[in-house]
Parts: sequence; structure tokens; C-alpha cells
Amino acid sequence: MRVLGIMGSPRMKGNTELLLDEALSGAQSGGAKVEKIVVDKLKIAPCREYYGCLNDGNCVIRDDMDGIYPKLLDADVVIIASPIFFYGLTSQVKALIDRCQALWARKYILKQNLPNNNRKGAFIAVGATRGKKLFDGSKLTVKYFFESIGVKYVDELLVRGVDKRGEIKKHPTALSDAFELGRRLAQG
Ligand SMILES: Cc1cc2nc3c(=O)[nH]c(=O)nc-3n(C[C@H](O)[C@H](O)[C@H](O)COP(=O)(O)O)c2cc1C
Repeated sequence: MRVLGIMGSPRMKGNTELLLDEALSGAQSGGAKVEKIVVDKLKIAPCREYYGCLNDGNCVIRDDMDGIYPKLLDADVVIIASPIFFYGLTSQVKALIDRCQALWARKYILKQNLPNNNRKGAFIAVGATRGKKLFDGSKLTVKYFFESIGVKYVDELLVRGVDKRGEIKKHPTALSDAFELGRRLAQG
């Protein structure tokens, strides 16, 4: 069981990364092999709509996405972790998702079978405010992204009211909830 964690915050050791690290520890404790991608450290250009992917399912832009596509397709579980920026995902993680239009094209235009269509995915998000709709937009994006790469949205951890770097450590349950989410995912 391979679990791929995508860390979408530009703030290292911030709330998102602390939550994702706990989730990956939980998955590891359940026997999974885990890998974390720190998106902000990579060079990922935004989608430019060149649409080369409609011909053969590959993006014509050459950058660090080259290494991400195989990881996304090989993982049994994908976890997207992002803080909420203006009711959405960070632009770092959104760029990665938009570049997966190439995988969308393989599935929906070229009618190719993705390697494994029964994979699982989870969403971890944190925001400073407490509004009811805080996570709605991002959840839709993550769900549609997962669907495009043959991943089912099965679990989530959405934490409100956390702002400063590391403030998540003061939250009564979030870190242990993240650990348990990872362990659940590893158990299949
Ligand atoms: C550009 C930007 C936009 C933000 N937009 C929102 C928002 O729309 N709603 C919200 O609740 N918090 C918002 N926040 C606060 C972050 O979600 C919050 O500080 C979060 O804990 C950061 O997580 P991190 O430490 O993993 O980066 C925003 C922060 C930044 C820097």
C-alpha cells in the first residue's frame, strides 16, 4: 500500500504540513509506504491550455510535473493537504491539479484505462475562519480532481479557526484525528 501526501502550503512546518505529517505517520503505523510531495519546492507551471494532452494524454510542458504524474498514478491512496486561501486551494496545489488535465484527457477524451480505478483519496484542509462554507469550493475541486485520476474521495479532515504557524498544535483533536485518518486509509 503506497500513500502519497501532497503538501500544498507554502509555509513549511505550518498547520497543513503538521497535519499531513501526522496522517502519513498514521498510515505508516498501519503498514503503508508513504511519500510526501512539498509542492512549493517544485517547479510546476500553471496549465497554459496548449492542449497537446488531447492528442496523447501527455502535457507538452517539461518541468517537475514529469515526476509527479507517475507518482499520482502509482499511489494506492492520495492525500491532498492545503490551507484555504480565499475559499480555495493554494495556487501551488491548484497548478498541480490543473496540469492533471493531461490525465483527465487520457480518461475522458482518449478513453484510456488508468492503471487502477479503485484508489482512495482524502482531503486535509485548514482555515483561519469558521464559516459554514469555508471548505465547499476546495472540496469540489479535490473531488473532481480525484475523479479524473481514478481516485474516490473517501475521507477528510477539515479544521476551522487555525491561523498562525503551528497553532494546530493547540487544537484539542486535530493532530490525533489526522493520525487516525492516515491509519484508516492504510487499513484499506
Ligand atoms: C493568501 C491567504 C488567503 C487566505 N484565505 C483564507 C480564507 O479565505 N479563509 C480562511 O479561513 N483563512 C484564510 N487564510 C488563512 C489560512 O488558511 C490559515 O492561516 C492557515 O492556518 C494556514 O495554514 P498553513 O500554516 O498550513 O499555511 C488565508 C491565508 C492567506 C495567506
